[in-house]
Amino acid sequence: MAVPILIDCDPGHDDAIAIMLALASPEVELRAVTAVSGNAPLHHTVANAIRVLDHAGRPDIPVAAGADRPLVQDPFTPGDVHGPTGLDGPDLPPPSREPAAAHAIDLIAEQVEASPEPLVLVPTGPLTNIALFAARYPDVAARVGRVVLMGGAAGFGNVTPNAEFNIWADPDAARRTFTSGLDVTMVGLDVTHRALIEPSHCERLLRAGRAGKLTADLVSYYGRSHTGWAGSPIHDAVAVAQVIDPGLLTLTECHVDVDCGPVGRGRTICDLNGTTGLPANARVATDIVPGFGDWLSDRIARLD
Ligand code: RIB
Ligand code: CA
Repeated sequence: MAVPILIDCDPGHDDAIAIMLALASPEVELRAVTAVSGNAPLHHTVANAIRVLDHAGRPDIPVAAGADRPLVQDPFTPGDVHGPTGLDGPDLPPPSREPAAAHAIDLIAEQVEASPEPLVLVPTGPLTNIALFAARYPDVAARVGRVVLMGGAAGFGNVTPNAEFNIWADPDAARRTFTSGLDVTMVGLDVTHRALIEPSHCERLLRAGRAGKLTADLVSYYGRSHTGWAGSPIHDAVAVAQVIDPGLLTLTECHVDVDCGPVGRGRTICDLNGTTGLPANARVATDIVPGFGDWLSDRIARLD
């Protein structure tokens, strides 16, 4: 039985690859996609989600737009990792359709309530929509299976020495998510920095189907931000991969707090050694199998 999932994202090159990974994998059923501002403004991220689903021939999968700014922090201008549109590089047509009229949190609630099996939420952007959904629909949130999020780091950050981008972008939403009672799995930089698509993978993907070529084109642009690396970290795909094959990652239960202060903004304080004595509120990914890039490119190559 495929696990039903909903991806809440900010496409974003690696978000786009995460969506294609879900579509290529029979172990999961992608029920809906919701968009949040993050890598680019909301009007771009929601359009990009539709553009990727168009490319994959999936007009049946509903897409809704959510929050266009963080809960509390001032709106921010994203960096240039993903380009002004959030999906610069590949030549993708404009979106074929408008997003659903519903707000993302209403689509999430609708999908959770309609699913006979517990829906797994896979956030791969800032957690604003997730926090708003849990606040607006606490009873529905209690029916969510798991939340497997790409974000945070037990170690160093990427947008500051302390903080990973998704958590830094909306630390208050992240704190609400970790303290919401949801069953949270945190897939952070500690493992995603080892989830690399390398040039050899791209050479192979260029010879695969349309999804493979799009992935190679996405990595070609995204790789500009990873010069000197052996490959490009496909952060968001690792969160989807954890649902597809839980054996890919090692998880450690621990207490996670989020620094919402000005100095340490966005730090995920992962008490892996139990020094606080606080009860665990999350599972943190602490290891990843070698060869994730091979696994990922094998999967993407299956999709036309
Ligand atoms: O830090 C990596 C995360 O930030 C990924 O989700 C990437 O898409 C960006 O949103
Ligand atoms: Ca993302």
